Amino acid sequence: MLRKVKIVPSLLASNLLRMEDDVRACERAGADVLHVDVMDGHFVPPITFGPAFVQKLKGITAMPLDVHLMVTNPDHQVEQFAEAGADWISVHAEVAPHLHRTLARIKSHGCKAGVVLNPVTPLEHAFEAAGESDFILLMSVNPGYGGQSFIPSFLTRCERLRSWLDANGHSNVQIEVDGGIKIDNARQAVDAGASILVSGSGLFVGDLGVNIEEMKRVVA
Ligand code: DX5
Ligand code: ZN
Repeated sequence: MLRKVKIVPSLLASNLLRMEDDVRACERAGADVLHVDVMDGHFVPPITFGPAFVQKLKGITAMPLDVHLMVTNPDHQVEQFAEAGADWISVHAEVAPHLHRTLARIKSHGCKAGVVLNPVTPLEHAFEAAGESDFILLMSVNPGYGGQSFIPSFLTRCERLRSWLDANGHSNVQIEVDGGIKIDNARQAVDAGASILVSGSGLFVGDLGVNIEEMKRVVA
C-alpha cells in the first residue's frame, strides 16, 4: 500500500518565545502536522506543554496537532487535551494498563488514537492494540529530550511491525517514528515502513523552511 509520508515538526525544538513564527514557517513549507511533546516530570524528567498551550496553538493554526503524552497517568490527561484541540493523541504502552479503554476514550472525542512504544518495549504490545489504533508510534530514542541520536534497531523493529500489520489486516494503521530523524536518515525510516516522521532538531537547526522542503524531497 502506498502511504503519503507526513512530515511532522516537533515544537519542542522551536524557539519557545517565538513559536508563532515557527508555526508559520511550518505552514509555508507544507509540513503536514505539528507534534506537541507533553512531559510531566515523572514519566520523563522534563516538564513541557499542557492543555492551555494546545488550546492557544489551536487558536492560531489549522494544522492538525499530534499530542504525544509522555505522562505516567495518561487516562487523567486524555480528556483535557482532546478538549483543548488535540487532533491526534498517543499514549505510552508502558504506562497505560487498560489500553483498549484508553484508545477508545481518545476516539470518543473524535481524535486519532496512537500507541507509543519505547525502543525496547516488545512489539507485541502494538500487535495486541492494533485493532484499536490509528497509528503506532515507535520511539527511535528514549523519550524525554530532543537532539538525541537515532537508535538503529528502530529500523528492524519498524520493518517487523509493518510486515505484521500488513499480514494481519491492519494495513490502515500507520507507523510514526520519533527521535533523531534528520534529512539524512528519513528515507531509511520510510523504507522500513514509517509513514509519519517526527523531527525536532533535524528541522529546527538551520533554516526550518528549507529543511522541511528538503525532507519532503528525500522521502518523496
Ligand atoms: C523526545 C520527543 C521528541 C523530540 C524529538 O522525547 O518525543 O518528539 O522532540 O526531537 P529530535 O528530533 O531532536 O530527536
Ligand atoms: Zn515526541
